[in-house]
Order: sequence, then structure tokens, then C-alpha cells
Amino acid sequence: MGMRFQIDNACWLGEDAWFHRGTMVIADGRIARLEGRFASDHPLPAGSAAGWRWTPAARRIDAGEGFIVPGLVDAHVHLREPGQAYKEGIANGTAAALKGGVTTVLDMPNNRLPITTAGRFERKRALFARKSRVNYGLFLQAVEGGAKAPETAAGVKIFMAKGSALDAICDAGALERVFRAQDLVVIHAEDEREFFHRVEKSFPQRGKLVHHLRRPRAAVVAALASIETAWRRTPAKQRPRLVIAHCSTVEEIDWVARMKRRGADVWAETCPHYFLFSEKDYLAQGSRLQVNPPLRTGEDRAAIWEAVKNGGIDFVSTDHAPHAPAEKAGRNPPSGIAGIEWLGPILLSLAVRGEISWKRYLELAGRNAARCFGLEGRGGIRKGAWADLAFAEAGEKAAGKAAEKIVTRAAFHPFGHFTFSARIRAVMVDGQVAWVDGRVRRGVHGKEVFQ
Ligand code: NCD
Ligand code: ZN
Repeated sequence: MGMRFQIDNACWLGEDAWFHRGTMVIADGRIARLEGRFASDHPLPAGSAAGWRWTPAARRIDAGEGFIVPGLVDAHVHLREPGQAYKEGIANGTAAALKGGVTTVLDMPNNRLPITTAGRFERKRALFARKSRVNYGLFLQAVEGGAKAPETAAGVKIFMAKGSALDAICDAGALERVFRAQDLVVIHAEDEREFFHRVEKSFPQRGKLVHHLRRPRAAVVAALASIETAWRRTPAKQRPRLVIAHCSTVEEIDWVARMKRRGADVWAETCPHYFLFSEKDYLAQGSRLQVNPPLRTGEDRAAIWEAVKNGGIDFVSTDHAPHAPAEKAGRNPPSGIAGIEWLGPILLSLAVRGEISWKRYLELAGRNAARCFGLEGRGGIRKGAWADLAFAEAGEKAAGKAAEKIVTRAAFHPFGHFTFSARIRAVMVDGQVAWVDGRVRRGVHGKEVFQ
């Protein structure tokens, strides 16, 4: 008999996007029993004002105020280990994940050294097995002539713009060779051959804030055209599932919609910074908001937001890409925004305020990523699923304005101007209490999701 945990007076967001109040029983890491007595289309008011006090030894709690949502899936993170742990590292990055309500991360392969071989993949797996506080899956980086990703990988990542020491893969022929060899491909869709490498000369008035000008929209358009050509040339039976990573433009939204209408197995990911910010914010705040792909125009931001609301975007990831504060302050700052610890609070706030529906919330925060990557028993609260749970509270007061302890080593809160209407109080990973009110519980380990 494994561990058993009972939550009385629980209010959870069910698979039907309704809130149910009742009893939840967790056994052997999974949801063993769900007995709802009432349901509502919004979080139910607390049955008791008692709140809850969680002690590590507790086997039974009264959920009282607050509500329970599925632990979030962040399908796009860069935890920088092995090779650049000073920027984040697995233990710290997954502590930040817990703060954001995230119980599963899929980690990108652009490490130093990039994860391109079975040997490097296995060594990275061993590190995650030892250090990850949340469940995880890992990508392999696509290289010309590279082997098929193992069953234990989330898929391969193609960088059409150089994201590590390796050359980018840009032309349709090279893309096609990867497509023919793989089952699931995540693509950074900016063709670096379209970048302006000497743009400073043409825009001296901008000083150094030219990142978004160096990487013009034409690079995205060219990338999409090559992906489409490669997809068309690949025999239908051999085509992999495609994920367009971090969509940032009107063009990507239109392209994904058109490809889906043609029956293509294409998925669209975006990140909070693409629907909360535009290039104006980058120009105002500088290198801290320098990211690839760059923040774009107000029209792009509006199109991404529309697609988040109406279904054009399949899931929201963070592209958590931490860099040391000194690097960001330097003369040639690296690109990347580290946002994982605000993912749950942002998406929950949008749903609490009615800016997205709870159905959309479920899809964007984990259900669709779990379907896309084949994560068994994750991304939803149902009998038999893993007990990956985030305990949340609504209300602007709950979100608080108090100085917040930032967990990421990037040490910067990119969403300081966003109004938070919800916060995470506690997180369970496979039925283990992993995080409560800002404190990580030692000894809780996630597991690989593709075993
Ligand atoms: C990524 C990183 O730092 O690993 N940065 C980013 O801005 N998204 C790499 C990249 O995609 O360029
Ligand atoms: Zn990335």
C-alpha cells in the first residue's frame, strides 16, 4: 500500500471545465477518488474560512478556501544544465517551476555542449533524475544526418537561427531530411539568412536597441515557407508532428490555421511575453526584454492574444531562458526571458477575470501540451491521472503587491506591470507535497514522463 492523502472540502477544476466541490483521494501518486457534490462554472466560494495549514506529516486536509487546478505543463524551458548551471540549473529552475504551479517541464537541448548524441542525452537524463523537483522530458537537438530521437525523448528541436554552437538548419532540403527521420519536431521558425547583421549602421538613433530590427518578420515568413515546402515533399506517412515554437507574429497564426485546415499535424505554442508585450516594451525596458524571437508590433501582440482566447494557439509555454543579470547588463546581452515562476499566476489571473474561458485555461495550461507530447495521465484532474496539482487562490489581494522573492537566477520579474488576480499556494507532484507558500520541500523528486 502506497501513501494515501485525502482532501476534504476540495474545489477542483474538472475535465469539463466546471468547478466541483467534494472529496479528492490520492493514492500511490494518482487521483484515486473524486466525489463532487456541487459544480459551478467559476471557483466556488469557500465552504469554511479556515484555510489550511499543511504540515509535512498531514495525510488529510480541509481545502477550505481556494481551488485546485491541474499542475501546469511548461513544454519549453532552458534550465541550462549541464554546462551553464550558473544561469539557472535544474534544482533552482524546477523550484521556480513549482512557484509557477508547473509540475512538468520539457527541457530544450541547446546546452553547452548541445544534446545531439545518445551519450549526452543519457548524461543529461541522469542529472535530471537526480535533481529535478518536477516531472520532466528532454529534447534532442536536430543535426544534419542525426539519429532518430529515442522513445525517452520529447522529440527533436530544430533551430533555424543559431541557438548554440551548432549551425542552424534552414533550407527546405535539410528540414525535409529531419522530417523524414523524426516523429515529433519543435521548430524555432526564424530563418537566420534573413537577419540584418549590421543593422546598427542604418539605425544609429536607436543606439543598441536594435534586436528586433536585426531579426525582421521576413525571417519568420521565409522559415514558414521552407517548413511548408519540406512538409509537402515528405511523404504523408513519414511526416512528423510539428510544433511551431513561441509564435510571435500574425503570419504564424495564419499559417498554422491554414496548415490545420489542410489536415497537417501542426501545433502552435506561444509564451506570455508575446501576448503581454510588444516591441515598445523592449524599447522602453531594454535588454531584459530582449528575446528570440523578438517582441514585435502591437498588431502581432493583438493577433497572438486573439489566438490565445479563440483556439489559434494550442498551448502556452514560457521559453524560460535565464541569463545572469551581469550578462543582461553587458554590452552584448544574450536573448531570453525567464518567466516560469509566473506562468500559473498569469494564466489563472486571465481566467479568474474572465479574459479567457476556463475551458481555454485547461487547454493552454497543460491539456493540449499533454496531448501533443503524449504525456500519460497529466494535464487534467480525473480519476486515475497523476496527482499533479496546483492549489490556487483568487483575488487581487491574494496576489499581493508585497516585494516578492524571485527564485530564478535571472533575478528579474518581467511581468511587474501585470495585474495578478490569483496566486499559487501549494503544489503537488505525483501526490507528493513539493511546495507550500514559497517553500520548497526537500526530498521531492519528479520523474521522467516518457519512461
Ligand atoms: C534561447 C536561449 O537563451 O536558450 N533564447 C531565447 O531568447 N529564446 C535561445 C534562442 O532561441 O535563441
Ligand atoms: Zn527556447
